[in-house]
Amino acid sequence: MRKLSVRELIMPYFVVEGKGRQEEIKSMPGIFRFSVDNLIKEVKEAKNLGIKSVLLFGIPKKKDFYGSEAYQKDGVVQKAVRALKENFKDLTVMTDVCLCAYTSHGHCAVLKSEQRVDIDLKATLDALARIAVSQAEAGADVVAPSAMMKRQVKAIREALDKNGFEKVKIMGYSAKFASNFYGPFREAVGSAPAFGDRSSYQLDYRYSAQALKEIEQDIEEGADIVMVKPALAYLDILWQAKQKFKVPLAAYNVSGEYSLFHGKKEQLLEVLTAIKRAGADLIITYHAKEITKLI
Ligand code: PBG
Repeated sequence: MRKLSVRELIMPYFVVEGKGRQEEIKSMPGIFRFSVDNLIKEVKEAKNLGIKSVLLFGIPKKKDFYGSEAYQKDGVVQKAVRALKENFKDLTVMTDVCLCAYTSHGHCAVLKSEQRVDIDLKATLDALARIAVSQAEAGADVVAPSAMMKRQVKAIREALDKNGFEKVKIMGYSAKFASNFYGPFREAVGSAPAFGDRSSYQLDYRYSAQALKEIEQDIEEGADIVMVKPALAYLDILWQAKQKFKVPLAAYNVSGEYSLFHGKKEQLLEVLTAIKRAGADLIITYHAKEITKLI
């Protein structure tokens, strides 16, 4: 029998600059962008419901071509991590490592061109490693690279170790598909690509073998947790990954899935249980708080 437990839920949060802010995301009713002060209040509530882990996404004060706000010491995520760590001793703080919310063009990489998706891999890996180190310095327990760049886990592992963060873990967004279920998230952080799409770096949903290869590769590069994303339409991938690999497996119940099941308690419990049954050890879901009241 597979029954959901609160321990395996991870609640994602969007953090903005400023004070006293709490802005609802239109396409995700019940989900907000919080400034750090309000985030603390919100996480206190989540913790009281039993939530042990959060995953942070930042919305920077300014975007630029290189996404340089992503690795600033006083960047919005870095500030949020410090504040959470000061306020809660037993909270696992995870941070998204990507550029798309920070670049003016909305792509997850440093580009060589202002008109085309021509990725500068070396510069991108350097930037991702810098982001991860800055988040670790702020106190992040787990960094979660979601850019789908080749060898990103390796680059981040090396940079963390070099800077004395051997204990910081990596959760790879290993099998991340180019999905139509990310729309509301892109509204939340304003990361819809200004030109082109993400099909050159995210996976084609018509194939499954590549997803398993990507997971294997991330494990070889040092990922402590691997992920399949989205979750619901990818239960087959979760199941195969669970049979094949021993490392903890996470499933990301993404924003478009949130919108579909918002307010539908019984259906929600059923589909989240299916994600677990398919093999997920951890479930990242915007429904996390709501679900604690149902199980
Ligand atoms: C960015 C990122 C995305 C999500 C998490 N990290 C979106 C994307 O690839 O455009 C989506 C999460 C969601 O839809 O809930 N690298």
